[in-house]
Amino acid sequence: MAEVLCLGILVSGRGSNLAAIAAQIEAGRLAARVGVVISDNPLAPALRIAAEKRLPKAVVERKAFPDKASFETEIAAILKAHQVDLVVLAGFMRLLGPLLTAEFPDRIINVHPALLPAFPGLNAQKQALDRGVKIAGCTVHFVNEIMDGGPIIAQAAVPVLPDDTEESLSARILEEEHRLLPEAIGRLAPILTLRR
Ligand code: GAR
Repeated sequence: MAEVLCLGILVSGRGSNLAAIAAQIEAGRLAARVGVVISDNPLAPALRIAAEKRLPKAVVERKAFPDKASFETEIAAILKAHQVDLVVLAGFMRLLGPLLTAEFPDRIINVHPALLPAFPGLNAQKQALDRGVKIAGCTVHFVNEIMDGGPIIAQAAVPVLPDDTEESLSARILEEEHRLLPEAIGRLAPILTLRR
């Protein structure tokens, strides 16, 4: 039997989406394994989650490299060394450049806390509240060089309640992210393992 899909998970912060993916794998509900977790932030709590779950991890700081291309070359080398099939941006707060997207064509996905194409970029939940939308949500999409701009794979909607704050809305959206992202990975897995 072919080996299960190998994930490379890129993080910058809290790591709750990383934890959600790992939990689905542990529960036997997602046929994948985490090959490596890469953080651009040495202080990211996500690295503690990776350590607790005994996942291979690496820190690649942008400031250690003269330019974006050499930073991404290092990330690509680590992903390839771990034979990653699918790169998952799980709260990785950087726009990817041409190097990584060319190294992993149609094999990089991102989760974003808005119903794209509405509210790309930072503070998407606040953007939604400020705009007064009544339905918010999250999106899993393929990554290209446009900020939160690649083809959409899956979306989930949540209501915006009259007394919502940025925190309460973000929490409601995050719950859906934790369901949607592992589900999207599971849907892509058979296609990506066939095309190895
Ligand atoms: C998530 O809400 C994710 O959608 C968002 O960062 C958070 C990371 O949380 N990503 C973006 O805004 C990317 N544009 P986590 O570190 O707990 O998974």
